[in-house]
Amino acid sequence: MAQPAGWGRLGGMETGAPGLPIDPLDVLQQRRSSKWRTYPEDVLPLPVAEMDVSLAPPIAEVLADAVRRSDTGYGHAGTDLARAVAKFAASRWNWDLDPAQVTPVTDVGVGVVELLRILTRPGDSVAISPPVYPPFFDWVPESGARLLEVPLAHGADGWRLDLGALEQAFATHPAVYLLCNPHNPVGRAHSADELAALVRLARQYRVTLISDEIHGPLVLPGATFTPLLAVPGAAEVAVTVMSASKAWNLAGLKCAAVVTAGSRLAAAVDRFPPDTKWRFGHFGLLATVAAYTEGESWLDELLVMLDQRRAQLADLLAARLPQVTWRPPEATFLAWLDCSAIGPDDTARDLFLERGRVALEPGLRYGAMGSGYVRLNFATSAAILDEATSRMAAAL
Ligand SMILES: Cc1ncc(COP(=O)(O)O)c(C=O)c1O
Repeated sequence: MAQPAGWGRLGGMETGAPGLPIDPLDVLQQRRSSKWRTYPEDVLPLPVAEMDVSLAPPIAEVLADAVRRSDTGYGHAGTDLARAVAKFAASRWNWDLDPAQVTPVTDVGVGVVELLRILTRPGDSVAISPPVYPPFFDWVPESGARLLEVPLAHGADGWRLDLGALEQAFATHPAVYLLCNPHNPVGRAHSADELAALVRLARQYRVTLISDEIHGPLVLPGATFTPLLAVPGAAEVAVTVMSASKAWNLAGLKCAAVVTAGSRLAAAVDRFPPDTKWRFGHFGLLATVAAYTEGESWLDELLVMLDQRRAQLADLLAARLPQVTWRPPEATFLAWLDCSAIGPDDTARDLFLERGRVALEPGLRYGAMGSGYVRLNFATSAAILDEATSRMAAAL
């Protein structure tokens, strides 16, 4: 298909903020990752959570150095990953974690599923709060447990944990509550008070909390991230899975960390199948250590850029797509857009794709509450965001 009008404007290297270049579209299109290979070339891809920004220099260097040395064997975590996670957590969030309780895993999905296998028995239920990251719906049955949906509350002030509904659900004794902190796709950074209330409920009803904190470093200006394990009383009831893969765009390299802070959950992690320790990527570990130890100033620049994109998207939506409503996210580079005025279910997403040649995540993948919504990834250049919203408006 011929390239649509306006394509030419997407050429040329763009600097999102000092030091954060984004390649022009024709170079981005040479990437072979999922974001760039799922759709035909005339579609602007803004779905899957990969970023278009170029790799942080300390990470690019460590990977290039490994290639130069043919250093492509099995990974060896030693104490490097644990020390890097602890250093970053202390410096970023003032969270003093014990490096002895950090365990490398393949990715967040593997960490959560292995935890669920150990923390549940067949037939147990595991609670999640839709709209939520679609694999949560798959990870629970993969582990042999049953899903219990406890939707987020949605009001004038946006989406938040429904602590009343969670208490009712916890009273039915699910084995685990799988928390998304911060929450994808709504972009909420749960407050310290909300998390403290969640910990109280978990202790009262003896429900284990697994906190997926992959988006923790991506809290945007104006909001604060609270690591669940930093909440008083959480150590005995909670375990966290974190990764550098969203904030530094390392998803294909495969490395994440399971973190505990108390003996019961540390003992659960000790029961992981022994081969788990061979299943993280060597490049993933090298890149993750570089990200956590040398990548903090790059992350600060990234957050400035994402803040700019968030503001740009607000302006573009107001000017071009007034029928779309949203609450700018406090965290993540994901915008959860209410397009229900355009149509129910995935009507808007289909129109944007078929007529506008812009790919967005369909809201229904996030649960029934996602009817009429799309999720847009704004970790891209100003030019691509401009073009995408212009095509979305033209599609209507
Ligand atoms: C909340 C959440 N958890 C986990 C993942 C995937 O992590 P991994 O690739 O490490 O399994 C994502 C990816 O976007 C995510 O948004």
